Amino acid sequence: MKKYLSILIALIVLGIIAALALAYAPFKPSGANEVLPADWKAEAGRGEYVMRAGDCFACHTAKGGEPFAGGRGIESPMGTIWASNITPDKETGIGNWTLEQFRTAMVDGVGGHGQQLYPAMPYENYRFMKEGDIRALFDYLQTEVAPVKNEVQATSLSFPFNMRFGIRAWNWLALSGQADFKPMAGDDQQIRGQYLVEGAGHCAACHSPRTPLMAQNGTTVSDANFLTGGMVDGWNAPALRGKDARVQTWPASEIAAYLGAGRNAHAVANGEMALVVEHSMQYMSDADLNAMAVFLKSMDGQSVQAVSAQVATPGPHSMPPLPADEAGQATAKLLTSASPDMSLGARLYLDNCAACHFVSGKGAAEIFPELQGNAMVLGKDASPLISVILKGASSPATDRRPMHLVMQGYADRLTDDEVAQLASFLRKGWGNQASQVSARDVAKVRQKVQSLAAH
Ligand code: HEC
Ligand code: HEC
Ligand code: HEC
Repeated sequence: MKKYLSILIALIVLGIIAALALAYAPFKPSGANEVLPADWKAEAGRGEYVMRAGDCFACHTAKGGEPFAGGRGIESPMGTIWASNITPDKETGIGNWTLEQFRTAMVDGVGGHGQQLYPAMPYENYRFMKEGDIRALFDYLQTEVAPVKNEVQATSLSFPFNMRFGIRAWNWLALSGQADFKPMAGDDQQIRGQYLVEGAGHCAACHSPRTPLMAQNGTTVSDANFLTGGMVDGWNAPALRGKDARVQTWPASEIAAYLGAGRNAHAVANGEMALVVEHSMQYMSDADLNAMAVFLKSMDGQSVQAVSAQVATPGPHSMPPLPADEAGQATAKLLTSASPDMSLGARLYLDNCAACHFVSGKGAAEIFPELQGNAMVLGKDASPLISVILKGASSPATDRRPMHLVMQGYADRLTDDEVAQLASFLRKGWGNQASQVSARDVAKVRQKVQSLAAH
């Protein structure tokens, strides 16, 4: 609460500055970052591809609603923000918009009525997109998407967040530099990966921490906190950079498989990331997936070889279990000892989980995720882990990996104390190092899971 209060006060101060600023400084759109010939036309399919890279569909389509007709609610601590209708309907969508208006929404966060957009729309990231992609995307939305008349419910947040002009001042503080992409010192593959990750892919929206003003703390590779881990809608978005980042121990080909197929030898994408794979990343070409993977592995100047292999080659593959290291073997030994004084957590694991995730905690490649070193198991906030134990998990099928993965939940089988003991065991087993989980932590998550299920 204290945190929100300070944000509130900061925003009120910002609001006053903004009101003054608005009186003196008229808004000037960033404009195109590249001059294209007047008769320029995007090659067929490019606009749709950029839409996939930017994941516009997921936010701008309501559950069961028409594509891009808006009305999906994005939850924020200040209230629900309703995504706009971006179909070419002339009254309720963007059918009457010019390219300039569209670009201004994408890179400056100013909407069709001159209103400041809430940063739930990731213009903090889209502002790095190049003119060619923005134009291709605009043409796609105008000509290939069916117009849908759908008046989206107006967003009404509580005071002072309902004063959209305050976002003007927020943008001055939150947006770093010009709306333009600055390539790193690297080869073409790294730079292409950087472009997709920083721009359309808006990975920083989830994987970067937030500043006290709730702006993304790190939007480009030159920012120290870029992709060092964040929190989104109750899920830990793990660090992708730095010494604690598990992905830095994966070869680039495994990162590309995770993004393009939602699974690899170590992990399965869950929750918010499963949605990113489902609606966006699975549509990326092998070349682009490899580029993003190589970029992620080279962010701090590490030398990484170019990768051109097919991503997640089709099977059948023989996939022997991953070998357990020393810490893994120690826990495996404890679990197989059948000792009468085995802790309750270890016993619950043996009885309920080991059949799939194995006593080594290594699981089975592409089906049962590894629990040793697992970012969700080790998360600073244990609620995503507790929630998966209670509710289970599922991960979508993709063209590259058509099998839908499901894990059943244990809410009806394990008490709060049992889940706490089990989760604490996972967080200490196989060399994992994370804090204990209490029955109270579990009770809180259980209540939330139940109230969501009741809706
Ligand atoms: C994470 C969710 C999210 C994603 C991803 C997203 N948007 Fe949005 N977008 C929103 C929300 C929410 C709003 C409304 C913001 C507001 O009312 O202030 C919005 C507003 C807009 C607007 C302004 C509409 C108007 O009437 O003023 C445009 C244009 C737009 N988005 C286009 C896109 C495109 C194109 C993409 C894909 C490249 C995209 N958005 C991806 C959430 C998202
Ligand atoms: C809407 C939020 C969101 C966006 C956008 C997003 N991610 Fe994620 N990502 C997550 C979450 C949450 C997880 C953890 C998933 C889990 O626990 O299974 C995750 C996990 C990952 C992992 C696995 C990390 C690990 O240690 O297991 C990788 C790699 C990854 N994301 C890369 C990316 C890249 C690259 C992008 C941009 C193209 C991206 N993500 C965009 C939320 C997001
Ligand atoms: C019948 C097989 C099976 C059993 C038994 C099982 N799991 Fe899973 N588990 C899976 C599958 C399949 C997934 C991948 C699904 C997904 O993540 O969407 C998974 C995913 C997970 C994840 C998410 C990992 C991540 O990185 O996102 C955790 C944590 C987990 N299991 C823990 C447990 C625990 C603890 C138990 C025992 C209470 C257990 N599992 C029992 C099959 C199983």
